[in-house]
Amino acid sequence: TTIQALKNTVLKSHGRPPWYGEDGQPISDAFLIGIAGGSASGKTHVARQIVQSLGSIPTVVILSQDSFYKRHTPEEVALAMDNKYDFDHPSALDMPMFAQCLMDLKKCRQTNVPVYSFTEHQRLDETQYLYGAAIVIAEGIMALQDPALRALYDLKIFVQCDSDLMLARRIRRDVKERGRSVDGILDQYLRYVKPAYDNFVFPTSRYADIIVPGSDNHVAIELISTHIRRQLHERARRFRPKMVSRRPTGLSP
Ligand code: ADP
Ligand code: C5P
Repeated sequence: TTIQALKNTVLKSHGRPPWYGEDGQPISDAFLIGIAGGSASGKTHVARQIVQSLGSIPTVVILSQDSFYKRHTPEEVALAMDNKYDFDHPSALDMPMFAQCLMDLKKCRQTNVPVYSFTEHQRLDETQYLYGAAIVIAEGIMALQDPALRALYDLKIFVQCDSDLMLARRIRRDVKERGRSVDGILDQYLRYVKPAYDNFVFPTSRYADIIVPGSDNHVAIELISTHIRRQLHERARRFRPKMVSRRPTGLSP
C-alpha cells in the first residue's frame, strides 16, 4: 500500500498517462515483453535500455528467468562446482513457476519471485516481492522456448550476437560477478553452453517479432519503445470507452 500511495502521488504530480485509470491502476492487462538470446548476448542490457528509453512512467518491471533455476540437491551443487552440471537444458528451469509469475504480472497481480545465487548455485530462502506494473519485461535464454510462454507475450524479441563476443563477455562477467575461473567457464561453455545455444536457444529466434543486435543497438531500442508507447495508447483508446460507459447516468463525464 505504501508503494500504491507513492504511485498515486507520482501520478497526481506528473499527470496520469492514458493507460492508467482514475484509481491509479493500469486499465488493462500489463504489456508483456519476452526477450531471449544467448548467454551474455545483452538481454539484460536491452531490457534496461528499453526501461530507460520509456522514461519513469509507465511503471516497468524486469523479470529474469535466471531467478527460476530449480532448487538443487547437494550432489547437483557439487557437480555444478566442478562445472559438470547442465544449466543450459530447458529442464534446469522451473518453467511452470516462471509462467505463473508472468501470468500474475500480466493480470497486474503482485507476485513473489525466487532469488537465485550464481556463486552458491542455489535458490535462496528469501523471495523478492514484485508489484504489478503496466509493462513487464521477461528475459532469459529460454524465454521463447515454451509455446505457453510465447502465447503470453505481446512482443517477442531475440538478441542476436556473435558467439565469440558472447563468450568474451561471459568470461569477463562470470569471473567478476559469479565467482568463476576462466578454465571452468571454458569447460562449461564447450560441454553445455555452446551446444545448448545451437540446439535450443538460437532456434527460438524464429518466433521473435524483432531481432535486435547484441551491440550498437540504440536505433532498435528506440524503435521498440516507440512501438510499446503506441500499443499502450491504442489499448487506452480501446478500454477507456468501456470505463466511461460504466458511469451512473446523470453525472457529467
Ligand atoms: P545477458 O543478460 O544476455 O546475459 P548482459 O546484458 O548481462 O547479457 O550483457 C553481458 C555483458 O555484455 C555485460 O557486461 C554488458 O555490459 C555487456 N553488454 C551488453 N550489451 C551491450 C552493448 N549493447 N554494448 C556494450 N556492451 C554490452
Ligand atoms: O544471464 P545469462 O543469460 O547469461 O544466464 C544464463 C546462463 O547462466 C546459462 O548459460 C548457464 O550456463 C549459466 N548458469 C551458471 N551457473 C548456474 C546457473 C546458470 O553458470 N548456477
